[in-house]
Amino acid sequence: MHIIFLGPPGVGKGTQANMLVEKYPIVKISTGDLLRESIKIGSNLGMQAKGFMEKGELVPDQLVLGLVLEKISSPEFGKKIFVFDGFPRNIQQAIELDKIMAKVQSKINLVIDFTMDEEERILRLSGRRMCPKCQRTYHMTYAKPKHDNLCDVCDVNLVQRSDDNEEIIRQRSTVYWEHTRPLLEYYNVKKILKSADASRSIENVFSDIENMIKPLMK
Ligand code: AP5
Repeated sequence: MHIIFLGPPGVGKGTQANMLVEKYPIVKISTGDLLRESIKIGSNLGMQAKGFMEKGELVPDQLVLGLVLEKISSPEFGKKIFVFDGFPRNIQQAIELDKIMAKVQSKINLVIDFTMDEEERILRLSGRRMCPKCQRTYHMTYAKPKHDNLCDVCDVNLVQRSDDNEEIIRQRSTVYWEHTRPLLEYYNVKKILKSADASRSIENVFSDIENMIKPLMK
């Protein structure tokens, strides 16, 4: 079984996906993380994606789909549960994902829509810091690192994502409403859509997510 995390920027999708990966035999596919990694290593794909990400726009479908296909081709696929974080981002990507799933005789069993109001999301993103090595995320108020501005695991200085400034966050939200939001209806029709109140504490949201996932793991 495979799961999709949907929701606007800053709602907590990545945080919850990382917690699932730490506790269960689950693999996370975050297209945002994969794209940032491509930029970091200076790949051709990364260079093509960079400008779109800096403006808060979606990266063209063919670039993103290539990255996802590569991950799905890994030997872990089929043996473990995959959580797609931030993918698909529009109807075309969802259609392509369905085609890929059909080809490998698998399917998406659950889509979780994370919901929360915009102003709180902006506070979350403005205070977010990220480890440049492992991409683990922190918040300078809500999820502090153990030591001042250092990743708990890698011990390197945390950084702020270049797209985490208010103007770009609002643009990313606009893109979400225009392109990603219609996916709710796409998955609602398939009767695999559930909603999570993401305004609660990290632990309470995690408990809700676990309750949604556990019945599918039996
Ligand atoms: P991506 O990296 O996917 O960013 P996003 O969707 O904008 O989501 P975020 O990572 O900003 O938020 P999140 O919901 O994961 O929040 P988090 O858990 O970190 O995409 C970036 C860009 O890449 C896009 O703009 C686009 O250009 C491109 N891209 C990516 N995928 C693409 C695709 N499929 N197609 C085309 N382009 C694509 O939490 C945020 C903060 O809040 C953290 O500091 C965290 O510690 C804190 N926090 C989390 N939960 C709580 C809580 N419950 N209470 C208090 N604080 C909390």
